[in-house]
Amino acid sequence: MSNYHIKNLEEYYQVYRKSVRNPELFWEEVAEEHFVWKKRWDRVLDYDFSKPEVKWFEGAQLNITENCIDRHLPSKADKTAIIFEPNNPDEPALHISYSELHERVCKFANVLKSKGIGKGDRVCIYLPMIPELAVALLACARIGAVHSVVFAGFSATALATRINDCEAKMVITADGSFRGNKTIDLKGIVDEALTTCGSVTTVLVAKRIDTEILMEEGRDAWLAPLLETAESDCPAEIMEAEDPLFILYTSGSTGSPKGMLHTTAGYMVYTAYTFKNVFNYKDGDIYWCTADIGWITGHSYIVYGPLANGATTVMFEGVPSYPDYGRFWEVVQKHKITQFYTAPTAIRALAKENLEFVNSYDLSSLKVLGTVGEPINEEAWHWYNDNVGKKKAPIVDTWWQTETGGMMISPIPFATPTKPTYATLPLPGVQLALMDEQGNEVVGNQVDGRLCVKFPWPSMARTIWGNHQRYKDTYFSAFDNAYFTGDGALRDEVGYYRITGRVDDVIIVSGHNLGTAPIEDAINEHPAVAESAIVGVPHDIKGNALYGYVILKETGEGRNHDNLRKEINQIITEHIGPIAKLDIIQFTPGLPKTRSGKIMRRILRKIAHNELDNLGDISTLLNPDIVEAIIRERMTPSVP
Ligand code: WT7
Repeated sequence: MSNYHIKNLEEYYQVYRKSVRNPELFWEEVAEEHFVWKKRWDRVLDYDFSKPEVKWFEGAQLNITENCIDRHLPSKADKTAIIFEPNNPDEPALHISYSELHERVCKFANVLKSKGIGKGDRVCIYLPMIPELAVALLACARIGAVHSVVFAGFSATALATRINDCEAKMVITADGSFRGNKTIDLKGIVDEALTTCGSVTTVLVAKRIDTEILMEEGRDAWLAPLLETAESDCPAEIMEAEDPLFILYTSGSTGSPKGMLHTTAGYMVYTAYTFKNVFNYKDGDIYWCTADIGWITGHSYIVYGPLANGATTVMFEGVPSYPDYGRFWEVVQKHKITQFYTAPTAIRALAKENLEFVNSYDLSSLKVLGTVGEPINEEAWHWYNDNVGKKKAPIVDTWWQTETGGMMISPIPFATPTKPTYATLPLPGVQLALMDEQGNEVVGNQVDGRLCVKFPWPSMARTIWGNHQRYKDTYFSAFDNAYFTGDGALRDEVGYYRITGRVDDVIIVSGHNLGTAPIEDAINEHPAVAESAIVGVPHDIKGNALYGYVILKETGEGRNHDNLRKEINQIITEHIGPIAKLDIIQFTPGLPKTRSGKIMRRILRKIAHNELDNLGDISTLLNPDIVEAIIRERMTPSVP
């Protein structure tokens, strides 16, 4: 189909213009030609951003697993759907064919049913990157259950918050997980979380590390024996286009994590389309995305997008540094990877190591390289381009979000000339706008502003689970008739976009989206802490590091600061997870506040960045003197 595999820039503009002139016709053609529907839609799009309400392919009926699996069986039954590459390179990789995947998903779906799970029920999945994870997602989708994957690096408290928010009936987990040379006691974390979760009646446990664990009678069950006796066929539940497919939590700048709800038909059409086009996917390619399925990247571009195209997708259980820094490249060589998709933070970490780790492997299979999750700096871009892609594999710098479901801005490889640090052009169907602070659209090129999307696209999140008002307030209130992304961006002289970063209180650390509020709430739980504020500071590898300003209570003042720092990070680890630990903690007698009591993070950010000569007007502060005191005690970021 002509919309696929855009071959040059001119064709991109043609396709793009068509998608803007008549979005309904554009997406209808994609939907018609590439998927199986049990019933055709009555209407392609119905929307009202003021509510906000968005419906794609209303009236259509389908099941996404039939599109991701069954549809490929006549021609690709023996083709590998998933390659599982274990943490330990000495353990053999596992190749799961489309027919095996069909059987695994059906069996798993029948186990879910036997435990009372049905259409609309929420199932929380807390698993490491093992095949059961992808199979669990698809098994839920097979029967219309709504999966809510929680990244298996989150703590018991964070897991419990998410389980309670969506009132999951079941948790699927493992006895433990491997991570480099460590093992993690996942089941113990689940047990701890479940002491505060009333909705969960069943816990299914996959065996991975083979260790003794506690099984609670009546609640917990090993997965393997149930799968063994389950029927190997499970009819796919008929789903309406707008039926929920999954919930995935993401941090907000304030409050609890937001359960972004994605629905069935639009999400499928969009992730499949973007996967094929942005990765220039062709039959026979071996595609590898290094993300964890616990994040949206894994949902859309390890599981649904690739499988909807009948592709071979790699699931990697390990980490880039184990057993050494050559691990990624060893896997590329071993499986002859054609598309490789990773995060700037991983690239920066690997670029610090000896080039021999890259040069010892044959990377000639690589055709397209991708990055996602945060802005990629110029140096990292060149390192990736020169040493991994050997200047022959275009880099697709893909900008998108948990909320957008799929990629929004990205070069089309071999068509869009790439430019370091630029995500370049909007994908077909994506209508962007830059807004100024007064809410007016900034037109023309060589301008900057707040990045918004003016028109619906099929994979956008439809609501925040259980809180539609918050969805409206967060995304549709800053600007009239537009979705606000939370990012700032600039548009260059040819219309290329460069994302400049978050304009709200979300900080991206190693590609993980962290809200300041939940971290501050955790810090404030420490009995010696009165108040705290955190800001991001630039970091060579992680993109941003976390700099915390902490006011101690009188009881804390005499205490050893290093011990307090350890305790504060311990609390953060318990409440959120190790990814949210602070790199720098400065104890301070106060925080700069406005007269209405709002913390002036702008000033704290400047001090942390050591931009002391343009702090702006501080005379309106409630306590201007505190700024001097904070500067005096400023900590030099000596983070690793
Ligand atoms: C935020 C969304 C999309 C999957 C992973 C992150 C930042 C994402 C890029 C990019 C610059 C990027 C934005 C965005 N971001 N991709 N290519 N260049 N920034 O999903 O956790 O929902 O985070 O990540 O700030 O808003 P997420």
